[in-house]
Amino acid sequence: MKIIEHRWKATEYHDLTEIEELYQNLIIAAMEKTSESYSPYSGFAVGASVLLEDGSCIAGTNQENASYPLCRCAESVALSTASALHPNTKIMAMAVAVFHRGQFTQEPISPCGACRQIIREQEGRYGQDIALYMYGQSKIIMIDSIQLILPLSFNENSLK
Ligand code: THU
Repeated sequence: MKIIEHRWKATEYHDLTEIEELYQNLIIAAMEKTSESYSPYSGFAVGASVLLEDGSCIAGTNQENASYPLCRCAESVALSTASALHPNTKIMAMAVAVFHRGQFTQEPISPCGACRQIIREQEGRYGQDIALYMYGQSKIIMIDSIQLILPLSFNENSLK
């Protein structure tokens, strides 16, 4: 028997200006995109942006449905859009921001379990870790890979 310990590391920023401009812009794209969220049921307007290897930025928002289980998360929409429009371009980074009750959330919001799995798929697909920036007014958290917060993930190797 052995104990397996999983450690994870995150970087915390307190101001956008502490972050390299490329990623600042990615976060701003996610923040701006929240204004286009279709979230009439929750009022929780999520924006997600994806930075591709060629420098292009694709953003998406959550898409809700009167049949609640059909709601789609912003991260999933942004990644599907990136995959549809730029099918063979590596994804380097993502950012997520939420506008709720008249302001951006104080705390960063981290992707739900399903979105972690969807992000994990893209890391496996391209063999490229995806840096994830989670915006909050009080702090911005960055992790180097979704695998840090999705240990023991089910992935392409599981099917071999
Ligand atoms: N939502 C996202 O867009 N991303 C997440 O990671 C968590 C939740 C959306 C789904 C729903 O439209 C609203 O936020 C409230 O759960």
